[in-house]
Amino acid sequence: MQKECNVPVSAVKHNAAVAAQIATRMAALGKTYHIEAYGCQMNAHDAETMAGIFLSMGYKKASSLQDADVIVFNTCCVREHAEKRVFGNIGALKKRKDENPDLKIIVCGCMPQQREVAERMYKRFPFVDMIVGTNELYMLPELFQRILEGERILHVVDIDGEIAEGLPIHREGTFSTCVNIMYGCNNFCTYCIVPYVRGRERSRTSADILQEVRNVAAEGFKEVMLLGQNVNSYAGDDGTVHFPQLLAMVNGIEEISRIRFMTSHPKDLSPALIDAIASLDKLCKHIHLPVQSGSDRILHAMNRHYTRADYLRIVRMLREKVPEIEITTDIIVGFPGETEADFQDTLSLMREVDYAAAYTFMYSKRKGTKAAAMPEQVEEETKKRRLQELNALQAELLQKGNARFIGTRGTALVEGCDHRSASMAYGRLGNNKMVYFPGDESLVGQMVDVIVTQTQTNSLIGRIATETNR
Ligand code: SAH
Ligand code: SF4
Ligand code: F3S
Repeated sequence: MQKECNVPVSAVKHNAAVAAQIATRMAALGKTYHIEAYGCQMNAHDAETMAGIFLSMGYKKASSLQDADVIVFNTCCVREHAEKRVFGNIGALKKRKDENPDLKIIVCGCMPQQREVAERMYKRFPFVDMIVGTNELYMLPELFQRILEGERILHVVDIDGEIAEGLPIHREGTFSTCVNIMYGCNNFCTYCIVPYVRGRERSRTSADILQEVRNVAAEGFKEVMLLGQNVNSYAGDDGTVHFPQLLAMVNGIEEISRIRFMTSHPKDLSPALIDAIASLDKLCKHIHLPVQSGSDRILHAMNRHYTRADYLRIVRMLREKVPEIEITTDIIVGFPGETEADFQDTLSLMREVDYAAAYTFMYSKRKGTKAAAMPEQVEEETKKRRLQELNALQAELLQKGNARFIGTRGTALVEGCDHRSASMAYGRLGNNKMVYFPGDESLVGQMVDVIVTQTQTNSLIGRIATETNR
């Protein structure tokens, strides 16, 4: 059904030849880069690609922003707060540029993809060397060459159907890493800027995705997070491969132990996906399923295309077929027109679902979105109070609900040891809960079976399961 939503894709490659030319000049100079990522996982993953490109241009990672020869701000504009932070932080770079005119400053990501914001930044921050949008990472070597020659660049183009394949990626994680499966969003939730700054949905081919997963496995990664704004509408290979099929293909890659994915839009969550979560052994029993609101009136105004009852039905189905599944969510309070009764509906939905975690936000007006023009904008004070109430309820539910984990057994991918007490190792269970247990550095990177013995607000405590515990 979603096939036709995906725009056609053609692959482009980054200019490795230009990168190599720059590398021959730069490697000997020992120049360094620093990238600051301000947004979601997609944004952080883009930063890993930019790091890969800088390394291919002979740059090294700087130990801090203070020491860098190139500073990159990979921006986010999903809420006003994120934008304000970026404006403040760019302003603070002026002094550094005055002290060191050779410093190169690049602002990229979602903020400049709003053309008017890009132009405003270009005027307001004359010491910034380059402002570039989200879709031109593959052009970084050419553009960078030009700023090295002294040019100042504002380069934001409308996003089309292209996907750049074959870019170098410098991955930050050690055992878990992200692989993009699609870009863009077609949903136009009325509050959200993402479709305007990331363009229409376009899916990578299954062959490109599988190759990348094999590559990361060969680099030693055990877990992959498949990324997209709405992974359920993945339609690769000219619409012939859908998300559950893709998951089955990734599940077949022997060297990978665990698969996660995000984000799922409830309107597109199919029975086939629920079956895949239930049956594929490497797929983590966790789903991030943003509900946004518990009120039908508000869900409709948000253009979410499901009702509270639809959402609760999906949650029931998930729990019937995958009893151990944990569900996390995103919720917005103070959407235009949200009354006290609407907010009570959100609180009651939160009680009904009993989430493992909820990322909660005050509605933030985004210029150009439909909701920004809606009358009945909610007062800041009311938004703040509702957010506090919602967070207090989530904390209370977590405290009560955590008891259900005691005595359960799960497999943790060990990420490290607690620095306060090196004898406590920690890792994430398949259900996304963090668990701490007696163990040492030798376990890092291993998949370890753990039995939960105690709970804390946001994590669990356990012990290593031995065969006799079974
Ligand atoms: N594609 C994902 C992520 C979108 S952005 C999804 O659909 O879930 C992450 C979260 O930011 C959203 O789920 C939403 O809860 C929140 N968000 C988006 N726009 C917002 C706005 N204008 N104000 C407040 N929160 C917003
Ligand atoms: Fe934004 Fe909605 Fe698309 Fe998510 S699904 S990115 S909230 S428009
Ligand atoms: Fe992500 Fe922010 Fe862009 S949430 S897609 S970096 S607007």
